Amino acid sequence: METPYGSVEPVVGKLANRELVFMSRHGRDHATPPHLVNYRANIWALRELGVQKIIATAAVGSLSSNFRLGELVLLDQFLDFTKSRPQTFYEGGEQGVLHVDMTEPYCSAVRQVIIDASEHLGFAVKNGACYVCTEGPRFETPAEIRMFQRLGAELVGMTSVPEVVLARELGMCYASIGMVTNEAAGIATHPLTHAEVMESMKELGVKVAQLIQATFELWSSSQNCLCASANGEVGKF
Ligand code: HPA
Repeated sequence: METPYGSVEPVVGKLANRELVFMSRHGRDHATPPHLVNYRANIWALRELGVQKIIATAAVGSLSSNFRLGELVLLDQFLDFTKSRPQTFYEGGEQGVLHVDMTEPYCSAVRQVIIDASEHLGFAVKNGACYVCTEGPRFETPAEIRMFQRLGAELVGMTSVPEVVLARELGMCYASIGMVTNEAAGIATHPLTHAEVMESMKELGVKVAQLIQATFELWSSSQNCLCASANGEVGKF
């Protein structure tokens, strides 16, 4: 698909008898690093296809003993330490200026459906964690991780921002399932590798697929939250 921000390759299909679009943010074979993901093109394309609600998945490192390797956690807040990413669709002029509300960045209504689905499946899914988004592609230093801990971060990753913000700007609900793939740098006693993260993801991916399917079985097509009206003050798109 072509978008004003570049082309993307969404996959359209059905799950639990509902229409769904699958978007691989890193592209095929994980070819695009987190700081070069075309977040605006991805989110724009989803909106063009009529998507109202997004369930994202994210590999995360843990900064807290509350979140252990192999756990699934729904994010509820973020700290943004990205550096080079376009953060908005509203760039002034014709597009207007939108200061979008981020009081509750991750849609609590969608999170609740995921929690209900996890209870049906008998899976433990924790609801609520503060995620710090780093620029990457390098992992963090232990000093950075100590700083983030002091700021209240519990999980670390490289992709949720600006994705969650852009979805809100276009009036879409967005929730993110964090998959704890590793302890953050300096908490782990060994150097971090991408291979370690990918290895943990293999097992967690199967669980997450079941969770998403179960969530779809409980899905309602209406948006019973404030996400849809988030861009009401400007409402250009
Ligand atoms: N840091 C940043 N991103 C990550 C990590 C991490 O430790 N694990 C998975 N994604």
